[in-house]
Amino acid sequence: MKRLASIVLAAGKGTRMKSEVPKVLHRIAGRPILHYPLSVLKGIGVSRTVVVVGYGKDDVRREFEGGRNLVFVEQREQRGTGHAVMSALKALKGFRGDVLILSGDVPLITGATIEALIELYRRTGAVMSLITAVLDDPSGYGRVIRDDGMSVVRIVEDKDSTPEEKKVQEVNSGIYLVSSDFLSQNIRRLSAGNAQGEYYLPDLVRIAVEEGKKVSALTHLEPEEVMGVNNRVELARADCLMRRRINEAFMLSGVTIMSPESVLIEEGASIGEDTVIWPNVHIGGKTSIGRGCVLEEGVKIRDSRVKDGTVIKCYSVVEESSIGKSVSIGPFARLRPGSDIGDEARIGNFVEVKKSGIGKGTKANHLTYIGDSTIGSDVNVGAGTITCNYDGRMKHRTVIEDGAFIGSDTQLVAPVKVGKNAYVGSGTTVTKDVPPWSLVISRAPEKVVKDWVKKKGFKKAGAGKKTRAKKKGG
Ligand code: UD1
Ligand code: CA
Repeated sequence: MKRLASIVLAAGKGTRMKSEVPKVLHRIAGRPILHYPLSVLKGIGVSRTVVVVGYGKDDVRREFEGGRNLVFVEQREQRGTGHAVMSALKALKGFRGDVLILSGDVPLITGATIEALIELYRRTGAVMSLITAVLDDPSGYGRVIRDDGMSVVRIVEDKDSTPEEKKVQEVNSGIYLVSSDFLSQNIRRLSAGNAQGEYYLPDLVRIAVEEGKKVSALTHLEPEEVMGVNNRVELARADCLMRRRINEAFMLSGVTIMSPESVLIEEGASIGEDTVIWPNVHIGGKTSIGRGCVLEEGVKIRDSRVKDGTVIKCYSVVEESSIGKSVSIGPFARLRPGSDIGDEARIGNFVEVKKSGIGKGTKANHLTYIGDSTIGSDVNVGAGTITCNYDGRMKHRTVIEDGAFIGSDTQLVAPVKVGKNAYVGSGTTVTKDVPPWSLVISRAPEKVVKDWVKKKGFKKAGAGKKTRAKKKGG
């Protein structure tokens, strides 16, 4: 097979977005637009990808740096798509084969369609092949002009088209496969003599035809795949389509999604069969969810692992954490990065956990902060327990061993350790290590002073009530 390289055009500002942020960094389904064409390329086996950057180049580079076989080339001035490709060719010096050119702002294109383009290109022996689509509303796109024999002869940009040409509904997708020889020999022949004063890449079609070279077009039947994102209305539409595509794939693989239009699952997540996802759930980053889990309304999970049979109740937030089997989290719980929750544990409402390990079957059900801690199995952490992990300068660890009982309203001043099966009385401030099997309690002894209130002469509610009740009765 001939060698394949690719160029992705991503230097434009995206003027129509009316934004400081470069267009390709605006997000659909949780990820930057440019993520999607780059992700399609991963599945295709290109030897090298040149990303042309310009406006906001450092931000774009930072977001995608480290990708395999990815190089960035700067197009200093954005003088059109043809000019962008000229800039990219510097990075493909010495490369001979075929060059796949993708638009950074056409995110819904699929690997299957690109494979079909490659197949068509090779079968037709073309120097250039492109993907086109027939749209109900073709306005804004370059129109595909064919001759009487229906061969493609040129592309005319919307702004350069005659009223007659504007009626053409077949549009250019901005995705091409070109022979590197043809590209390097002809790219300098583009001119900027047009309505926008830009070097138009699609003009290569006309040049090839004039040279008597073969150009072929793959007319795609799913217009949504070729949709370009140029303004925020199209951004919202693309976001919707991408989320639906991802969600439908999960539903077909056995995941129940309630109100899928409200659910955002980012590409790259994995979810097991029979997991049920309620409305307004957001699963982001590299997250894996096991089988038979329930993610209730408003749950947000990022870069985390959740094992089988776990229930995460309403409005809980989980980041960079790992949760075992048959665990119950929330409602309204927060697992911050580095939380590792053991099987069958229960983390209840208004409980925050950070950088801590929680053992099997341990419960922390109410209003608690657990930070920088190692907690064993079958520990009961009472309501209102706080690990005081920060002394104003440094963080310290709390260790609670298996079977310990932490009474409600306890403060554990780290570094501190509570031994196996030890018992901490409610309201205790633990500042020294507690040996196994011991009781620790730091409350002042309770004192009752009889009739103290009466003697003080405070007016109390009881007396008045009686008179009111009498009045009512009479
Ligand atoms: C382009 C095509 C049009 C096609 C449409 C499909 C041209 C001249 N027109 O139009 O035929 O129907 O895409 O979506 O190619 N870019 C650069 N450097 C530049 C200019 C653009 O890198 O100097 C990048 C942009 O960042 C963008 C892509 O190229 O990712 C397309 O540019 P855009 O200005 O959006 O082209 P369209 O007007 O949509
Ligand atoms: Ca565009």
